[in-house]
Amino acid sequence: MSALLLDGKALAARIQAELTHEVRSLQERFPRPPGLAVLWVGDNPASAAYVGNKNRSGAGVGIDISKGQHLPATLSEAELLAIVDELNADASVDGILVQLPLPEQIDSNRILDRIDPDKDVDGLHPTNLGRLVRGEPGLRSCTPAGVMRLLAEAGIDLAGKTAVVLGRSILVGKPVALMLLEKNATVIMAHSRTRDLAALTRSADVVVAAVGKPGLVDGAMIKPGAVVIDVGINRITDAAGKSRLVGDVDFASVREVASAITPVPGGVGPMTVTMLLANTVQSYRRRVG
Ligand code: GUN
Repeated sequence: MSALLLDGKALAARIQAELTHEVRSLQERFPRPPGLAVLWVGDNPASAAYVGNKNRSGAGVGIDISKGQHLPATLSEAELLAIVDELNADASVDGILVQLPLPEQIDSNRILDRIDPDKDVDGLHPTNLGRLVRGEPGLRSCTPAGVMRLLAEAGIDLAGKTAVVLGRSILVGKPVALMLLEKNATVIMAHSRTRDLAALTRSADVVVAAVGKPGLVDGAMIKPGAVVIDVGINRITDAAGKSRLVGDVDFASVREVASAITPVPGGVGPMTVTMLLANTVQSYRRRVG
């Protein structure tokens, strides 16, 4: 058997086309476009790619990205807090995203805590995480929201299914576990101290891998017919000396066992950016509507 490919790239393109249309028609009624400010501090090369992508995609759907800033690595925490305060008060800004990681002199949580929860399009403010825990509507973090959208679009019903989440990060593992639970899955969270990981994954109808370890999950760890979502993005140098992106899942062996699988690249990655844009438009609607 060869698994169905859950094509995040195609789905992201479709949703972005819908957002473009929505932004254009909202512009007929409201005097300003949605605004997204991405703050990038320092020169982390991975962040450069992510921030570039967020800004390009945002501009592509008609979002104003002009309040975003690239700031020096020597920026102090107080200076960054002051910039967040300004953006919180700026009526043309609907979404604020502070790209992580931040330089070590800056406490990320203090910065995230300062963002107006209604502009927190990354869904990382404690208020939005709290809303998720309570099952209330709110801005949901982008990668987990993208995973859920991929599952929904593929018509995968989660009620009563066993879902194993690998990884317990605040960006992915914890929120995606809560979102799966909200859809009535039986959720197991596995992490670096978990014993007999393979026994757990073999019991799972859905596996979400978000650890950052290339090849962590192989075909022998997957129950036939399971759905496998690969959130990992790892840059490796292959045997031929070429650099390429791989996930946490050994795609070749898992696709022979699973019923559906996300590729890397082209699976969850494009959905993350798309959910950020969707969150920005959602925030804009609430603010201008
Ligand atoms: N760095 C890597 N992923 C993310 C993300 O989803 N949000 C932010 N703010 N920074 C990140």
